[in-house]
Amino acid sequence: MPMRRWGLGLMALLLIGSLAGLYALHKENQTLHQEVARLSHLISEKPVELSAFMTAYERFLTKLHAAGMNENWELAAFYLEELKETAEELERSQVVEEGIPISAMVRPNLLEPLEELEKVLPAKDKVAFEAQLRTLVQRCNGCHAAAGKPYVRFTLPAAGQPPRQVF
Ligand code: HEC
Repeated sequence: MPMRRWGLGLMALLLIGSLAGLYALHKENQTLHQEVARLSHLISEKPVELSAFMTAYERFLTKLHAAGMNENWELAAFYLEELKETAEELERSQVVEEGIPISAMVRPNLLEPLEELEKVLPAKDKVAFEAQLRTLVQRCNGCHAAAGKPYVRFTLPAAGQPPRQVF
């Protein structure tokens, strides 16, 4: 009898021991999960260089305009697509600068006028194209003003003339 009780006691001890072991593993696993989540967060929050996006927009805008003025509509469609892709990337990047939600401002100020511009492309009409591009330039300026940078301003000086920054 005492022998059996002893055996049972031992079994209970073993059981408790392995449960404690499992619990420790579970805890460790949880800690690892938390660490991974924290690190992933850090990666996704890497600073987005806004001026790099803007340099690209300026280049693409100039080339888009030049392609249209030369009635090279395939090239215009290509630059329009490039602009859209970089705009979508900025929209996804969740940039907030000095409390200003830059990424949230991309759709109305960039993606929407680009979509409007896309609609006039098939007409292959450079006057209509340039008029729509003017709206886009106004939206670039609108976003700069809303972001507290009204002095970053672009213009289409005259019909057929390339867009340029106002200095
Ligand atoms: C969603 C808002 C937004 C839109 C749309 C936008 N910008 Fe900007 N842009 C900014 C902000 C904010 C800055 C200031 C960046 C900084 O502080 O570094 C800036 C700065 C710039 C600069 C100055 C940096 C440089 O490289 O000289 C240029 C040029 C520029 N933008 C061009 C454009 C053009 C061209 C368009 C339209 C095709 C455009 N931006 C559309 C928000 C916007």
